Amino acid sequence: MVARVIPVAPFDLVIFGATGDLSRRKILPGLFHRFRVGQMPKNARIIGAARSDYSSEAFRDVIHKALNEFVSETDRSPDTIAAFLEQLEYIHINATGDDGWTKLAEILRPNTVRAFYLSVSPSLFGPIAERLNTRGIASSDSRIVVEKPFGHDLASAQQLNTELLRNFDEHQIYRIDHYLGKETVQNLMALRFANSLFEPLWNSTHIDHVQITVSESLGVEGRGEYYDNSGAMRDMVQNHLMQLLCLIAMEPPSRFEPNAVRDEKVKVISALEPVEPDDIVRGQYRNYGEASGYLEDSGNPRSRTESYVAMKVAVANWRWAGTPFYLRTGKKLRNRLSEIAIVFRDPPHMIFPKMEGRKGNALVIRLQPDEGITLRTTIKEPGPGGMRLTEVSMDMTFDDALGEDLHSQDAYERLIMDVIRGDQTLFMRGDEVEAAWNWADPIINSWQESTQKPANYDSNGSGPEEALMLMHRDGRRWRAIEQ
Ligand code: BG6
Repeated sequence: MVARVIPVAPFDLVIFGATGDLSRRKILPGLFHRFRVGQMPKNARIIGAARSDYSSEAFRDVIHKALNEFVSETDRSPDTIAAFLEQLEYIHINATGDDGWTKLAEILRPNTVRAFYLSVSPSLFGPIAERLNTRGIASSDSRIVVEKPFGHDLASAQQLNTELLRNFDEHQIYRIDHYLGKETVQNLMALRFANSLFEPLWNSTHIDHVQITVSESLGVEGRGEYYDNSGAMRDMVQNHLMQLLCLIAMEPPSRFEPNAVRDEKVKVISALEPVEPDDIVRGQYRNYGEASGYLEDSGNPRSRTESYVAMKVAVANWRWAGTPFYLRTGKKLRNRLSEIAIVFRDPPHMIFPKMEGRKGNALVIRLQPDEGITLRTTIKEPGPGGMRLTEVSMDMTFDDALGEDLHSQDAYERLIMDVIRGDQTLFMRGDEVEAAWNWADPIINSWQESTQKPANYDSNGSGPEEALMLMHRDGRRWRAIEQ
């Protein structure tokens, strides 16, 4: 199968913080891929805006180096790179002062989609939004894109929303959660809402529990200062894992349309029960063998910040009462694996001999690596010898089923193209982010008030023992992270 590419309208995309890490690693390489396959039109422009006093030429050099580093050799030829770089310009701008704004107003073209990507510290969202608005740089259909972290608690998220909404309408604001740009995450919606097979089973009558795992093998990787003030709860659970939970738990929206989808997600978040202290485990990796521990990596020898969280969450509504959602995420674990497992209840009456180690039916949606969906089923063990049972997985790895090229798009590529198309479906609405903080805040506050330290786990291990107990005491088991 060959990926279909529908070019987007010409655009002027201004990236604030254009020489920063995210821009060099993800945003520009993503745009390059869209250019390479013909989705980004030749008359689109990318305008880098940052504090440093670069010329456009020097900016192109920086991006050229970034493309060499972050785009695979097979995907870049000197000609394509040269053509892409021609569409780049740079403007020196002072986000909190006056420099550069008049020039920016002058160079933007009329009748062209305008998007402003704020890849900067959240403290600059307000000042930039205000200047874009009051200097007439943003028009009523311009888009503004903001990155996480969107606040560090409810109050700061509300403050950011107020500052943005003072200058832009909600329909212009694109709050990125890059997990929503992942192919399999969207496939989850297709799986649920384009097939009639699963919906009748998608409730607590048939589903025993849901496991959401985002296991990372990397540690804090030079982001010690940010991470130490954040921790896994703010960095991963409040946003990425919450989004995954919403897509599993939400009611079918009436239309695949931004507000219809987001209304349903907000209802899920509002239905979450407060998490009891016994239902949550926070952990911190410690050095093991050659591998360093969190205290060294973060540069804070007294840190109590969690690099791991596991929890049992209840969605209090008719569909899910009685079906717990178990969430876990952590850094420096043995393996990189993100997946959602929907574990079904056993048949009400088993007529076959007991099968040792039977795990039962599970629908597993694998986000990374090897994106795909598997369905674990029980079958008869082949051969003579009576009716012995075994389990096999029906495997739909997307690489095998569709060809590698089709899903190789990075989350950022897709999300930026959605911004240009004006499609907010895969972006978080202000009330959604606030609802997620409202749920997360009491958990984080209780940790801050507590004198208890996080549970330790070995670097490159499988997480704290206490997290295993969280499931064991309910007679359930986590799936292995070495799938
Ligand atoms: C980011 C977090 O939002 O997501 C990082 O800040 C984390 O700490 C990353 O490593 C994980 O993203 P992915 O796409 O690699 O799973």
